[in-house]
Amino acid sequence: MIRLSAIAVLGAQWGDEGKGKVVHLLARDAAMAVRFNGGTNAGHTVVDAEGTFKFHLIPAGALYEDCIGVLGNGMVIDPWALTQELKALVRWRESEPEIFISREAHLILPYHPIVEELEGAADQIGTTRKGIGPAYRDKMARTGIRCADLFDPELLRGKIETNLNRLKRVWKESQALQTMDAVALAAELLELLEPIRERITDTAALVNRAVDRGELVLFEGAQGALLDIDFGTYPYVTSSTTTIGGIGVGAGVPPTKLDRVIGVTKAYTTRVGTGPFPTEEHGRVGERLREIGNEFGTTTGRPRRCGWLDLVALRYAARINGFTELALTKIDVLSNFDRVRVAIRYELDGKPLGDFPSSSWELERCVPIYETLDGWGEDISRYRSRDKLPSAVRHYVDFIAEQLELPITTISVGPAVMESIG
Ligand code: IMP
Repeated sequence: MIRLSAIAVLGAQWGDEGKGKVVHLLARDAAMAVRFNGGTNAGHTVVDAEGTFKFHLIPAGALYEDCIGVLGNGMVIDPWALTQELKALVRWRESEPEIFISREAHLILPYHPIVEELEGAADQIGTTRKGIGPAYRDKMARTGIRCADLFDPELLRGKIETNLNRLKRVWKESQALQTMDAVALAAELLELLEPIRERITDTAALVNRAVDRGELVLFEGAQGALLDIDFGTYPYVTSSTTTIGGIGVGAGVPPTKLDRVIGVTKAYTTRVGTGPFPTEEHGRVGERLREIGNEFGTTTGRPRRCGWLDLVALRYAARINGFTELALTKIDVLSNFDRVRVAIRYELDGKPLGDFPSSSWELERCVPIYETLDGWGEDISRYRSRDKLPSAVRHYVDFIAEQLELPITTISVGPAVMESIG
């Protein structure tokens, strides 16, 4: 059997790279789109002729009629948010999407965001306040509630009760926790998820079968390499594996089955939340990038921190993920600059640094060394062919490709799906 393609689309920076758009471009021909990490902290925006749709839990590929959406075991799912998103998607598509949810995926329950606030992580790390960290902690502590537990109401009630009682003992001052009732919560959960209970299944088997049959399957990463729990700028990271290994642990598909690994990067850099960001621009350049690029969070609406493209960080992301190619998004945003800068290496304490440092404290002290390239001073959103792009744009794209030794197979020149150069 010749496999058509199993394609991973992964964020190469700190999230918000435009993965939703890249997935949407590919999903037209896909049989299946799979999410394998994160939860409602993610926000994938898809813009097409009909308007804008913002995904948080459901894979963006599921916008298409024939594309099955899979929520893999590595996700943490807020059942209330999922129900809302499903309803919105049905309205948008004017038909029921075919969605499957892993039995092993964990649930975010109302006590998780409360604990996140009480512990102060929300402010210290600048999280999305969706309860992601506490839900993944329960998973690792082996006390989490999994989708499979919905099939055994008594077990579900007991597990919620044990978790809630533990939290009530720790957080005596929290009225919100003290008044939460495990039995009522379990009942609400069962009622809420009853309509989609039959969609809860062994998704690892389902996805592997599709890949083995040779169907086009897309793996849709959430967040980006530098927010990875292991390889990101810890502790200013999310709580899941955002890099390629996440597909193995979060969807049950070994990375050896992947044919293409697309790293998605903006033509500049953004970050939301706290943590080191060597190429951040605090002045007018940062403001202009934010304004022109509309850099405000899909999930929280927070203004994103903005700066120039960082090739040191991208080289690191490429190595960890084994990118086979890059998709370069939002290059049109740079049209308004006379000159554009790209960080090509770092210096630490006046000495050149060979690699992206694994410690956030070291990264904090790194000074980026820039290459300055000519800007192009014209709107490029109408271009559809690479050859016709102004030479300064082509030079910018070629410079990145050469530095990273990777082909750039997609260039996006505007938010809409049609505003892309393949
Ligand atoms: P959490 O995932 O809500 O725990 O947040 C941890 C860190 O990851 C914070 O800095 C968030 O701003 C960041 N983060 C989480 N999800 C996304 C995303 O989809 N895009 C960009 N940043 C994110």
